[in-house]
This record gives sequence, structure tokens and C-alpha cells, in this order.
Amino acid sequence: MKRIAVLVSGGGTNLQALIDAEKNGLFSDKGKITLVISSKDGAYALTRAETAGIPSKVIPRKDYPDAAAYTRAVTDALIEEKADIVVYAGFMTILDKQITDAFPYKMINVHPALIPSFCGKGYYGLHVHEEALKRGVKLSGATVHFVTEECDGGPIILQKAVEVKNSDTPETLQKRIMEQAEWKILPEAVRLLCEDRVSVNNGIATVKDE
Ligand code: GAR
Repeated sequence: MKRIAVLVSGGGTNLQALIDAEKNGLFSDKGKITLVISSKDGAYALTRAETAGIPSKVIPRKDYPDAAAYTRAVTDALIEEKADIVVYAGFMTILDKQITDAFPYKMINVHPALIPSFCGKGYYGLHVHEEALKRGVKLSGATVHFVTEECDGGPIILQKAVEVKNSDTPETLQKRIMEQAEWKILPEAVRLLCEDRVSVNNGIATVKDE
């Protein structure tokens, strides 16, 4: 059974999708969420973890002087946890090479756009949807990818497109992308990792058929 650690910073609706997926048997006996780490004290995601009976830890970003010191603290916590899979679920802090070296191709992130559009430094949360609407795209969506040193640049595991409507605001587009894409493809990607069905060759991720 793989030990799954989930990193969060906010509301935690993606964490909730993972909790519900585990409860519904999606990971069968191959995976279990054993720890939630939040970069922010008081994040609602922590309440979701507590309600589900999952241990959690707050490692506040503001308590560390720089990305290196913060990455060390998070990496140490994940090593101590013996995490097999690390999921960034609305985790709004960029970590450095120390963590990708410690967990190569064991960490995944959900991003609320179709990478390589609207991604990289500065593209997070509602900003992503604001930019998509500014550009007038007719399709957006979500991507689950491996976390590498390059922000939002790791091998893509799953993507799902979602229609953009004329009347959309960043908030309505965010909601539709969460409901129709993120909350589906994130648990599905975790299932694929639990079943050892994702391989990476020359920077390209491939999902093996069942
Ligand atoms: C989600 O839309 C997630 O894709 C996005 O933040 C939101 C977090 O919501 N993540 C990023 O933008 C990371 N670059 P949640 O806390 O309710 O899961």
C-alpha cells in the first residue's frame, strides 16, 4: 500500500475529491492518504483532513526565510512520513530542487489550465482563469503532471478540456473546471500511480493500459 501525502494551502476541494475517492474505493488497497501538510495555518483543507480522520501538519511558509529553508522542512516531513506519492492539491508555494531530488517522479500537481497554456510562475488560482478569459480562449481545463524543477513543466499525466462560456467570470470558470476536470483527473492520476501504471521516458509520461 502506497502512503499518499497531500500538500495544501487553501480551501482543499481537491483534497476533498481525493478523500472521497479513497472512501469510494478508487485506490482499493493500493493507496491511502496518510498525511496532509498545509503551508498556511487555518486553511479550510485542515478541517477537511480532520473530519476525515487524516493526520495533518502545518508548516507555515511565513516562518521560513527562503524557499530553500522551507523546502528542507517540507522534504524532511515527507521523508519522515515515508511518503510514496506526494500530491500538490492547491499548494501555492514553489519548492526547490531538494524535494524533486528526494521524490523523483513521485510528486504530482493539479494545474487549472491546459498546460502549456497559462502556466508557470505567477499562474495560480484565480489568476489562471483571469488570463484565460483575457485571451479569449474557448476551451480551458486542467492538467495533472509530475512535479519537476521547472514550475508546471513536468511530464503531463492527464488532461481534461472544459468549455469556456461567453458569460464566464474567473470564478464561474474556476468552478466549472474544478467540477468537470480537476476533481476527476486528480484522483484518477493518483489511482494510476498507486497501480504503478505511469512511466516516464525522455520527459514524456505514458499511462499503461489496464
Ligand atoms: C485549484 O484550482 C488548483 O488547481 C489551483 O488552485 C486551486 C486550489 O483549490 N492550483 C494552482 O493554481 C497551482 N498552480 P482547492 O484548495 O480547493 O483544491
